[in-house]
Amino acid sequence: MMPAIPQPAFYLFKCQQSAPVGMPKPSCVKQNDVESQQLFGHLAQTLMQKGIIATAQPIQTGCLNRCQQGPVMLVEPGHTMYVGLTKEKIDRIIDEHIIGGNVVNEYLIPQEMWGAPIPPVQVAR
Ligand code: FES
Repeated sequence: MMPAIPQPAFYLFKCQQSAPVGMPKPSCVKQNDVESQQLFGHLAQTLMQKGIIATAQPIQTGCLNRCQQGPVMLVEPGHTMYVGLTKEKIDRIIDEHIIGGNVVNEYLIPQEMWGAPIPPVQVAR
């Protein structure tokens, strides 16, 4: 029998939503902000350089509904929402959370913006 292919330990969902030019709504990838456009590449490249991309998989995703706090990234498991990202913050999240196992509390979304989830069973029709 073939050995099982291990599932990833983490998925890193980086919001890649970009608002069209002239649209007032904020977005995580900004036309006038080069660093915001480079964050996913930086994330993937750093995970690769550190040899952990197979077990810490970066995912490009659409809007995660916290646009005012962008650029944002959701780390699963844990529902850990990081906001206001820069390359330096991503480096620390990889070293301290993904490798080290400790959430980087100072980069988390404010608690009033991230209340407890509503179980679907409570609201399902
Ligand atoms: S555009 Fe990134 S959370 Fe909405």
